[in-house]
Amino acid sequence: MSLNRYNSLYELIGGAPTIRKIVESFYPKVQRDELIGPLFKGDITAVMEKQYQFLTQFFGGPALYSDQHGHPMMRARHLPFPITPERAEAWLGCMRSALVDIGMPDELRGIVIERLSGPAHHFVNQPSEET
Ligand code: HEM
Repeated sequence: MSLNRYNSLYELIGGAPTIRKIVESFYPKVQRDELIGPLFKGDITAVMEKQYQFLTQFFGGPALYSDQHGHPMMRARHLPFPITPERAEAWLGCMRSALVDIGMPDELRGIVIERLSGPAHHFVNQPSEET
């Protein structure tokens, strides 16, 4: 599979319907996760919509997030939440599992996770918790 025939990762993975499926599979897993679930209490419909918009533009599709919410400044937007290295891994683990659930082929899954692991680790803003 080659990225060359496509203009973006967004197109390669199947565009809007795929991003929608990712978001819908991902957040219930996040809410059930013991490390990051507590950060996502209550109604997260608005967060899901923002994630749909953000991932669309992050993967090279239309700039839906910036059009509605301005500059992403994602690390800054995550500063109010305590993000440890373990929480970053938990987030990526939920994402990996969502990609499996929606039937994304192995090779694409690897590309998507690699793209997301940079930002996930970049958003870490707290040291590991003592156990
Ligand atoms: C590293 C682990 C991460 C944790 C623990 C985390 C946690 C959170 C939390 C608690 C919120 C706010 C939820 C609320 O408003 O109720 C949030 C918002 C958001 N997160 Fe994350 N996040 C992580 C990584 C990521 C990554 C890697 C991305 C995308 C590449 C991302 C994209 C977003 C977006 C788009 C929002 C909405 C921002 C807004 O309010 O406009 N997050 N995240």
